[in-house]
This record gives sequence, structure tokens and C-alpha cells, in this order.
Amino acid sequence: MAYSDKVVDHYENPRNVGSFDKGDETVGTGMVGAPACGDVMKLQIKVNPQTGVIEDARFKTYGCGSAIASSSLVTEWVKGKTLDEAAALKNSEIAEELALPPVKIHCSILAEDAIKAAVNDYKAKHNSAVAAA
Ligand code: FES
Ligand code: FES
Repeated sequence: MAYSDKVVDHYENPRNVGSFDKGDETVGTGMVGAPACGDVMKLQIKVNPQTGVIEDARFKTYGCGSAIASSSLVTEWVKGKTLDEAAALKNSEIAEELALPPVKIHCSILAEDAIKAAVNDYKAKHNSAVAAA
């Protein structure tokens, strides 16, 4: 089955590729792997600590075209969202937007897991900062 135009677009022109400093306290990092295929996705968010709104996002994905497209799409979608809104993102929304075929659904699940992990990492950093204060 051929990739959809949107997958090809995100694959050829991926948005927001790169990394933030993992130690930055405004950054949350999610790193997840897909057991089915061994692909790995790192997704990072940069959060405004005052408002709790995600201002920027980056990703690095070692994987298939659908995984790269899913992570690229998610970095665009989460900008301007609150942490809770971002964590509520569903892989089905990603799969629908990119018209992923059934065998590629796990690629969008990887992106959902990665954004959830990034939000949790940010929250964990800030809870421990509060606890230590
Ligand atoms: Fe993920 Fe092919 S199985 S790259
Ligand atoms: Fe495994 Fe796409 S992430 S084939």
C-alpha cells in the first residue's frame, strides 16, 4: 500500500526535527520504542512554566515513514496546547489525519505514547522541584 500524500509530505519535510536540552527545566522528554518493529521515537516539549502551555516541540525518530510523519504531525499539533490537552491526544486522530493503513497504526500509537511520556516527564520534574523546595 502506498503512503498517503500527508505521510509523504511530513516524511520529506519533517517539522521540528531536533532536540532540546534534556536538563532544561522547561523541557519534557518522552522516549519510546515499538516492540513490534524496534523503531524508536524521542519527542520533546518546551513549556511555559507560568501558563503551562507548550510553546515548542522537537522530535527525533529512528523508524518508518509513518512513524516520522506521526511524530512530525504531533510536534505541530501540541504547540499552543496545555499539558493536559496534549496528553489527551489520541493515536486515532493521528492515524486519521495521515490516513494510515491498519499495519501502520502502531506507528501512530508510538507518537501518542511519546507525547504522553514527554508530558509525564515534565510533570515529574516539576513535582519533584516543588517537593524539594
Ligand atoms: Fe519500522 Fe520498518 S518496521 S521502520
Ligand atoms: Fe513500526 Fe512504523 S513504527 S513500522
